[in-house]
Amino acid sequence: GKTILITGVSSGIGARTAELALASGADVIGVDQRVPATPMASFIQADLSSPASIADLVARLPQRIDALANVAGVSGTLGDAKTIAINFYGLRTLSEAVAPHIREGGSIVNVASIAGYGWRANLERAKGLVGVQGFPDPNEILEEFAIAKGEGYPVSKEALLLWTQRAAHLSLFRDRGIRVNAVSPGPVSTPILKEFRQVFGDARVDSDITRVGRAGSAPDIAPAILFLASDGARWINGTNLPVDGGLEASINADVL
Ligand code: NAI
Repeated sequence: GKTILITGVSSGIGARTAELALASGADVIGVDQRVPATPMASFIQADLSSPASIADLVARLPQRIDALANVAGVSGTLGDAKTIAINFYGLRTLSEAVAPHIREGGSIVNVASIAGYGWRANLERAKGLVGVQGFPDPNEILEEFAIAKGEGYPVSKEALLLWTQRAAHLSLFRDRGIRVNAVSPGPVSTPILKEFRQVFGDARVDSDITRVGRAGSAPDIAPAILFLASDGARWINGTNLPVDGGLEASINADVL
């Protein structure tokens, strides 16, 4: 059977992804800061904002896994520094450390966001964040790249989308045929959506939902993550799959 490491398994999209993977016969190693309400056969508690915690988690992994799904993320309510640490530097540190455990031809799937689509407009800033190696002090990152209050979430996802494309071509992954892709959900009804209302305002969230008729649900997103993680996606690499009910298309079509 296949073994997939999934972060963020204690809530929302990560929980649903774990359920679906288990139902399809895979072994799941779950990771989260919080213990899941329903006990998992294999769960490792870890804080992805801490390099030491990430190292402890990686030390407990089996020698060989098939895929890593980086689902865990925070909205910005914990502050911009913490948000960038968890959503980008923690995710990247984990991926680099897990890479030697991923079998040849395996894959990594990063859950980004439609909120990160400014990466092209903000390319120099995104390149700057990605260019800082290792796990920097996130407060220094805020200062160095003049990240304004409240920008932590979109900036973290911009960096993640740019890094996803880069990572597909980094020898650490490419030399062993490890594919790296992203899934970008639109608004999805999970606990984080309430926090987005605080961070981005009700008007923005409601208008996004109105454009596509309803908010997404975790079961709308999980199959896309598992598809990109699977061998069926063997010729898909370095790409971003929007899973947003047509939101991106709706926004783009309006400006044509
Ligand atoms: P959620 O809040 O339900 O789940 C997030 C999980 O990540 C939680 O179980 C939480 O404990 C875990 N987590 C947070 N910080 C952590 C840390 N430092 N270490 C380990 N685990 C940590 O949210 P949801 O919706 O399931 O979000 C999953 C991903 O989807 C996130 O990356 C989010 O940015 C992304 N996303 C969600 C959207 C939505 O509207 N729900 C829209 C676009 C992207």
